[in-house]
Amino acid sequence: MSTIVILTGAGISAESGLETFRAETGLWAQHRVEDVATPEGFARDPALVVAFYNKRRSQAAAALPNAAHYALARLEAEHSGDVLIVTQNVDDLHERSGTKNLIHMHGALNSALCGACDHRWPAPAVMAANAPCPSCGAPTARPDIVWFGEMPYHMDQIFETLSRADIFVAIGTSGNVYPAAGFVAEAARAGAETLEINLEPSSVGSQFDDALLGPATQTVPAWVDSILKRT
Ligand code: APR
Repeated sequence: MSTIVILTGAGISAESGLETFRAETGLWAQHRVEDVATPEGFARDPALVVAFYNKRRSQAAAALPNAAHYALARLEAEHSGDVLIVTQNVDDLHERSGTKNLIHMHGALNSALCGACDHRWPAPAVMAANAPCPSCGAPTARPDIVWFGEMPYHMDQIFETLSRADIFVAIGTSGNVYPAAGFVAEAARAGAETLEINLEPSSVGSQFDDALLGPATQTVPAWVDSILKRT
């Protein structure tokens, strides 16, 4: 029974209407990373940062999972071996399509974090700047998002699973941000078969055994069908 590890990025949610980061009109063309996705930016202007994530939270809430999300949930339900999705995305479209075995390595829009005591709670639709932590009371509520310069979540569990992977697939990610961009090398070291599913080859595309290029709503269901035929 094969273990499948799937890394997803912003591209899997693009056809649900959510912006990616590095497209010409993407999020990083509209906002400076240092202003809205670093601890220093948050310390400098918390109102600007919570407004950025409040907008993304409301866009994600209005979005619907697409055929790629549903195909991965079907794979998890029907594949005889383990399926783990590691997502860089902070939307909840994987959960809403039925995926259960999921790691948000960059955090989640629907979660809030206390910068003082690390308490987590469900994020309000609209988070206020300097809101009090419901646990310690300090005015240090922040989006539970991993910013640049911070350590991604659950790395031990991710690397342990990669060491057991028989198949590793990256979907909708440009391969520009580590440690996620290094997962293909980890999986290959473990002897996994590696596949990149994307609109075009990513920055680490040459490290994959194979590629399936095209929109995720077409390529991912086709790939899932091919995998389920194997088992
Ligand atoms: N189907 C498949 N792939 C797509 C689609 C689509 N419909 N639309 C876009 N893509 C691909 C693009 O070709 C690109 O390679 O998705 C990728 C998106 O790349 P990025 O915008 O860089 O997003 P991502 O790789 O998820 O970024 C990684 O960077 O800024 C940080 O924390 C942020 O998690 C994010 C990380």
